[in-house]
Amino acid sequence: MSVAEDIKDLLVEVDNDFTPRLSVKLDFDVYCRKIAEKAVLFTVYEAGKISGLVAVYCNDSAVDSAFVTMVAVRKSARSTGLGSALLRSSFAYAAKAGFKTMRLEIYKTNPGLRSFYGRLGFTVASESDVSVFMELDLFSHQSSRLGTS
Ligand SMILES: CC(C)(COP(=O)(O)OP(=O)(O)OC[C@H]1O[C@@H](n2cnc3c(N)ncnc32)[C@H](O)[C@@H]1OP(=O)(O)O)[C@@H](O)C(=O)NCCC(=O)NCCS
Repeated sequence: MSVAEDIKDLLVEVDNDFTPRLSVKLDFDVYCRKIAEKAVLFTVYEAGKISGLVAVYCNDSAVDSAFVTMVAVRKSARSTGLGSALLRSSFAYAAKAGFKTMRLEIYKTNPGLRSFYGRLGFTVASESDVSVFMELDLFSHQSSRLGTS
């Protein structure tokens, strides 16, 4: 299977765990091909399948911010720290690539995610009627991990 097909296999399984469902707003074939080509992928494979994925757009050098487009962990692999670990790897990568912040969008229909990302250092940057936009200062995050701030 191609990487895009591996991603689709994961997203089909977790589709119902997103509110609204991912398939309501995304064409899986188009989206999976797009992130396989254009995003930086942080993945863990188990038995030939992706069990956890973080996909980040780090391709706009005109802005200082990298954008997390997808975070998904297969049900069987949840609550083991995998999602957090993949996100931390992506922070280290983006900081090294010269980005100053990481951004992501969560739907207000899933308020629990605010504290999940809050524990990783994200704060609320802005809100719309339906979404909360969160941001992580990569410099502070890396400094605090290194004990230099
Ligand atoms: C969110 C997700 C990636 C977390 O992956 P994970 O590997 O389980 O994450 P970790 O093990 O690092 O952390 C798990 C903890 O995060 C918190 N958490 C995760 N998702 C949460 C949610 N939707 N609401 C509240 N708390 C949540 C909980 O404290 C959880 O601990 P618990 O399982 O013991 O209650 C995973 O649950 C998932 O794929 N969910 C469906 C897709 C999704 O919502 N993606 C994010 C879209 S922005």
